[in-house]
Amino acid sequence: MPENKRTIMSGMRPTGKLHIGHYMGVLKNWVELQNDYDCYFAIADWHALTTKYEETEELNQHILDVAIDWIASGIDPEVSTIYVQSLIPQIAELHVYLSMITPHNWVERDPALKDMIKILSKKTEEQESKAPADSGVVTYGLLGYPVLQSADIMMFNASLVPVGSDQVAHLELSRDIARKFNYIYKTDYFNEPQPKLTHAPLLKGIDGQKMGKSFNNDIKLSDSDEITTKKIMRAITDRSRIKRTDPGHPDECEVVYTYYSIFADENTKDAVRQECTAGTRGCKDCKIELANLINDNFKDIREKRKELEQDTDYIKQIIADGSQKAKQRASEVLEEVKDVMRLYKI
Ligand code: TRP
Ligand code: SF4
Repeated sequence: MPENKRTIMSGMRPTGKLHIGHYMGVLKNWVELQNDYDCYFAIADWHALTTKYEETEELNQHILDVAIDWIASGIDPEVSTIYVQSLIPQIAELHVYLSMITPHNWVERDPALKDMIKILSKKTEEQESKAPADSGVVTYGLLGYPVLQSADIMMFNASLVPVGSDQVAHLELSRDIARKFNYIYKTDYFNEPQPKLTHAPLLKGIDGQKMGKSFNNDIKLSDSDEITTKKIMRAITDRSRIKRTDPGHPDECEVVYTYYSIFADENTKDAVRQECTAGTRGCKDCKIELANLINDNFKDIREKRKELEQDTDYIKQIIADGSQKAKQRASEVLEEVKDVMRLYKI
């Protein structure tokens, strides 16, 4: 094994079971990269608390579910380090140091954070009558979201961060922070972390909106074949098509046909286009065939997932071991950071 592999760091918030969009957009990438890099994958529970600080009763289960989805998808705990963010207090300490050097207007300008705040305040309006308390409020912690994420990355001095395109704006801030740290403390200690995206476009939900659990439009890695098929049957198609014999427009069929272009081989895809355009292909049959393709694609992952679900002790051990390893590395980095900053040491 070559020494000094470059380091990858990435993470996800534990907000529930993962969907096929997480897999196609991010996880697949992690699995492919894990042998060529030293990989740290965080279950970012502090980030989950930035918005869901009231909903902690299910947090532990969500953390286990994320670990199960990752391992079932092919993240090998013997190769990659899987850990829970809140078990590594060094990240919180580094977050404090980074927060001191980060101008607040850099954070306020972060478009990815602005989006989160926009969605959150919309929800608050809707919930106002039901939950007048403070759910959905923009907290001090939420403002620090991208700074905390920078601490996650810089804690392992990662140079590459494989993420979905929604995270790219956060990473720009991470690079600015790393650069400013190096400049202020006259060092070249920190790498400027670059995003690494998959080629797969972001998978839309079955309603054509962004796929997400809270939009009730996702297909989960843990869904059964039956549920997957049921969900695909609800997916939107070319809206201008009324009768089975009407010529269809695959390019206007932004969910079903787009899924075909991701999950089917070229021949199938061409046949779908040709038959749809000729009006010889019914949308119902088209969806059933698509559901079968998706179920085939996730068959192995789903089987593995079922096994892992039965073995919670094993999952907990993976998390414990990974977190211990991450903590060891984090404390080394933190000592070096404190030296560079000339902080008081005993
Ligand atoms: N913000 C990321 C998301 O919502 C999760 C995350 C937390 C992360 N820390 C990170 C991603 C560090 C990359 C690197 O998906
Ligand atoms: Fe979409 Fe298939 Fe219907 Fe064509 S036949 S509009 S590709 S679902």
